[in-house]
Amino acid sequence: MARKILVTSALPYANGSIHLGHLVEYIQTDIWVRFQKMQGHTVHYVCADDTHGTPIMLRAEKEGITPEALIANVHKEHSADFKEFLVEFDNYYSTNAPENKELSQTIYRKLKANGKIATKTIEQFYDPVKNMFLPDRFIKGECPKCHAKDQYGDNCEVCGATYNPTELINAYSAVSGAAPIRKETEHYFFKLSECEAFLKDWTRSGTLQGEAANKMGEWFENGLNDWDISRDAPYFGFEIPDAPGKYFYVWLDAPIGYMASFKKLCADKGLDFDEYWNKDSNTELYHFIGKDILYFHALFWPATLEFSGYRKPTQIFAHGFLTVNGEKMSKSRGTFITARSYLDHIKNPEYLRYYYAAKLNSTMEDIDLNLEDFVARVNSDLVGKYINIASRTAGFINKRFAGKLNPSADNSVIAELKGAAQTIADAYTARDYGRALREIMRLSDLANGFVAERAPWVMAKQEGQDASLQQVCSDALEMFRLLTLYLKPVLPKLAAEIEQFLNIEALNWASVNTSLSAEHAINEYTHLITRVDPKLIEAMTESNKENLKATAQVSAQAKTKAEPATTLPEAEYISIDDFTKVDLRIATIVNAEHVEGAEKLLKLTLDIGEDKPRQVFAGIKSAYDPATLVGRITVMVANLAPRKMKFGMSEGMVLAASDERGGPFILSPDSGAQPGMRVK
Ligand code: MSP
Ligand code: ZN
Repeated sequence: MARKILVTSALPYANGSIHLGHLVEYIQTDIWVRFQKMQGHTVHYVCADDTHGTPIMLRAEKEGITPEALIANVHKEHSADFKEFLVEFDNYYSTNAPENKELSQTIYRKLKANGKIATKTIEQFYDPVKNMFLPDRFIKGECPKCHAKDQYGDNCEVCGATYNPTELINAYSAVSGAAPIRKETEHYFFKLSECEAFLKDWTRSGTLQGEAANKMGEWFENGLNDWDISRDAPYFGFEIPDAPGKYFYVWLDAPIGYMASFKKLCADKGLDFDEYWNKDSNTELYHFIGKDILYFHALFWPATLEFSGYRKPTQIFAHGFLTVNGEKMSKSRGTFITARSYLDHIKNPEYLRYYYAAKLNSTMEDIDLNLEDFVARVNSDLVGKYINIASRTAGFINKRFAGKLNPSADNSVIAELKGAAQTIADAYTARDYGRALREIMRLSDLANGFVAERAPWVMAKQEGQDASLQQVCSDALEMFRLLTLYLKPVLPKLAAEIEQFLNIEALNWASVNTSLSAEHAINEYTHLITRVDPKLIEAMTESNKENLKATAQVSAQAKTKAEPATTLPEAEYISIDDFTKVDLRIATIVNAEHVEGAEKLLKLTLDIGEDKPRQVFAGIKSAYDPATLVGRITVMVANLAPRKMKFGMSEGMVLAASDERGGPFILSPDSGAQPGMRVK
């Protein structure tokens, strides 16, 4: 039965740009939504900008515009970023919307009617110049532990100590610089302490990942405090009913923004809001969030919903944090990368979608974007394995058979590809995209193996092989179609281009049960994707480096002081003399051909500027069509002792890279290198 599913991602703050850390979440959610839509379920994916609070109010003031103008600008920017990263919301709204105001006030009134609201007079820091209460983040001063100056009210960035703002020495307001005073004010509280029994029950109902349920356990042990939901004017937000000068704290109306965004979608599309939100709803509700905001989503949010008479989330999916090259994103290292900066430099958003998907699973573990690995992974998986299947076969169908296919009746590789649909669907459902992609790449290897073994480029040169050639290429394209279907939640734009090339309807999961038929005509194959150039990565991190000079100096100093990097035991190093014993030479591949009876080898003839060319057998058949190698320039080991092989003498070795991520990739020097030049 088709399910009805409402999905959300956390609402990004409207006071900053979307960066690669945020994108982990939006890409993770978007893949899941696209997958569920491909399954034929009814899915609504909503989000919004989180627009309220002191930081946004103060930033607008600084820029000399109204908060409304600021959040309108940011809304445009965020929407464009998401669109270009192919994150496809059904509605992307704002928390500063009439629906949200109304829902927030309604929910508050219901909580109050249920006896869940209390007032209490508290003492807070107050800026006597600016006439406003100050959140902890806006009080600065000297660290009580290490005496570093200009530290924030909650923790010291120099020594890492945490403390109360009252402990700061010579505290001052970050807004006006004035010394803050303490002032009493009446605040409104949500009585979370009374919700413990309900929340314990709810935690046990399977709504949370294991790690999240454990975290909840810790929170219960420490006891639940009532939650301060009000802030005093001036504040950019919604006024609390019957409480003049009091505003809802931003975190009260932010999750209600999920409902508001959906309410707007209902008005636009004629959907039934109550069907999704009433207490006994049969629909499903999933929130994707980062682990840092679990407290709000696993405690405050379900309690708010429960005691105002709405349904609770079916599940909360929390993910870990992004690190870049193993460390927190950093402006000085140039790894604090905005969505826009990525697009400006790398351009293709699907590379990042693919890489994140390869790294994501269902846990709250942090995920690392290793920029070198990113290049290697994208190039070897997407270009070297997946696209390779079409690029080695489509041309023959286009040129020799006017685009017409004629698949075989029975192909065991295709059968295996089709048989994997459920395994892959299960992995996507469980948000274990890494597992899904490993399976898809295993299948891509099978498909490539099939192509390499049948070697259509050989058939193409032989008489009377036309029927086989057409069949092999047709089967390869059917494999390519299935792989495209499996990858479509991750690579929706590429999939659409391939649907156009294959001349087929939009693929959905049920398309596993169809096949490209005889006589079906495909369109002209055009180049679909290019390799990522590592130079683009370097340019991107360079352009994101702040204080270039300062950090360059620091690292220069660090170098002179640093210990030598001893990662190998002394005995395992080689000397420079050992290295120069290896005679590496630039070589031109003057001929390349298949070897009768050899599974993996190609026979290469290499010109290294000597009188007689060298003959080398290289194990690269799986990755290269010999015709494409002729004329290429590469690197060979010229003084390797000649070896007699089954197929003849091998007089050297060609250098190529490979590991479990892919390959072999033969090396190429920059243009200008001439045959015979020594490599050192
Ligand atoms: N406005 C709140 C959410 C309100 S939801 C009712 C907020 N905004 S945020 O802009 O700081 O973060 C938005 C989402 O992005 C959060 O789920 C957060 O965990 C996630 N991420 C922000 N930085 C991140 C990383 N570096 N890595 C992974 N996710 C990150 O929190
Ligand atoms: Zn300190």
